[in-house]
Amino acid sequence: MKILTYGCQMNVADSERMAAQLSTIGYQEVGDVETADLILINTCCVRESAEDRVYGKIGEIKHLKRQNPKLIFGICGCMAQKEGENLIRRAPHIDFVIGTGRSGEITNIVKNLEEIQSHIVDTSNVDGEIQNNFPLRINNYTLFIPIMYGCNNYCTYCIVPYVRGRERSRLPKDIIAEVENAVKAGVVEITLLGQNVNSYGKDHKLSNFAELLTEVDKINGLQRLRFMTSHPKDLSDELITAIRNGKNICEHIHLPVQYGSDKILQKMNRGYTVDKYRQLVKKIREQIPNVSITTDLIVGFPGETDETFDETLDFIRDIKFDAAYTFIYSKRSGTPAAKFDNQVDDKIKHERLQKLMDVQNQISLEINEQLKDEILEILVEGASKTDETTFTGRTRTNKLVLFKHNNEQAGDLINVKITQPQTWVLKGEVV
Ligand code: SAH
Ligand code: SF4
Ligand code: F3S
Repeated sequence: MKILTYGCQMNVADSERMAAQLSTIGYQEVGDVETADLILINTCCVRESAEDRVYGKIGEIKHLKRQNPKLIFGICGCMAQKEGENLIRRAPHIDFVIGTGRSGEITNIVKNLEEIQSHIVDTSNVDGEIQNNFPLRINNYTLFIPIMYGCNNYCTYCIVPYVRGRERSRLPKDIIAEVENAVKAGVVEITLLGQNVNSYGKDHKLSNFAELLTEVDKINGLQRLRFMTSHPKDLSDELITAIRNGKNICEHIHLPVQYGSDKILQKMNRGYTVDKYRQLVKKIREQIPNVSITTDLIVGFPGETDETFDETLDFIRDIKFDAAYTFIYSKRSGTPAAKFDNQVDDKIKHERLQKLMDVQNQISLEINEQLKDEILEILVEGASKTDETTFTGRTRTNKLVLFKHNNEQAGDLINVKITQPQTWVLKGEVV
């Protein structure tokens, strides 16, 4: 089998779990789609560009189906949830389409398909119960663990609440057990995942996120603990304290601000003002020394003007994020913002994106340059994609480090001296 994964870490985690389940009925992973007997595309629909990439890939699979009539080809994930049988209408070489609530049923669906030899479309259960009894499959030193599913925030641009359902938190004991098993199997870094981890536990009330994080942090053998994503409106003082007092909780907070003008933030339904965000960042930086803060930004949201955009530039110059992921607003049908007046012209969107990136890149470089000659601990990831002799690793603050490889292994924690800081990576030497 070959699983192709698009989108966010939640999809990466779901793909891992589906691979683990499929391995229990005899499917083993292969390196490429050409030699696979089962191809699964785990999809994202957060922006139109993400969907376009998936349609491109679906097209590429067509000739493989013709060569090998026994090949099973399925689509799952967020775009499958959103489009359902439209996908099969558009591309009849797809055998099955399952939504985000059915990933726990993947083995049954594949078994059924082997028998009935017809299409299966199942997008039910989007708000359904959370499964816990996944076989654990460890092929790495780091692992993503979803602690909750869904989102209740309904930011007006965003499709995620519609394709991932309402917020549902897993039980603390199930999460702890999963982390313990992973650590026993050799995992050294865990990332706890949710669309908004700060609202963890608001449903079952057995534990809030700060408490959960503190509990997980106590697990013996775990070296690094990360989490994402934090929503600025819900990040509590208790959480900041938990991070500060933590043993292995990494000093990195991904805190998407989306925009730097109140008028637009309100239309986005984000639930905070620029000023409130600023206060929050100030508090975080006061309490957690050397913390890195990264963000997401959207340009071209309906109603954006030169003034609101300039406010945003001033805002990011003021906050000084370590890094920002910048996106062009993409109209998602079914979301409120798709119907808002004053949609922004494409050309202007692209110009603004470029400007925003230029400003942020300069800031990232300046921040990273302050790390020159510092000795930082990194978790070794392995060889870089382009060069076998260069290895990559990450600092606790989640910055990518490149270094010349001697005999370090993936999963090692080592110290490097930063020799050449750049905008997106730090080059260093092992000490
Ligand atoms: N739950 C997380 C991430 C959601 S999706 C959060 O709330 O931050 C990841 C990012 O995609 C978002 O932070 C946002 O910046 C971006 N995004 C979401 N919908 C978008 C859209 N319609 N157009 C462009 N970017 C979008
Ligand atoms: Fe989308 Fe907003 Fe939920 Fe994030 S918090 S997933 S941006 S609706
Ligand atoms: Fe994309 Fe779904 Fe994640 S829409 S960003 S894969 S939750």
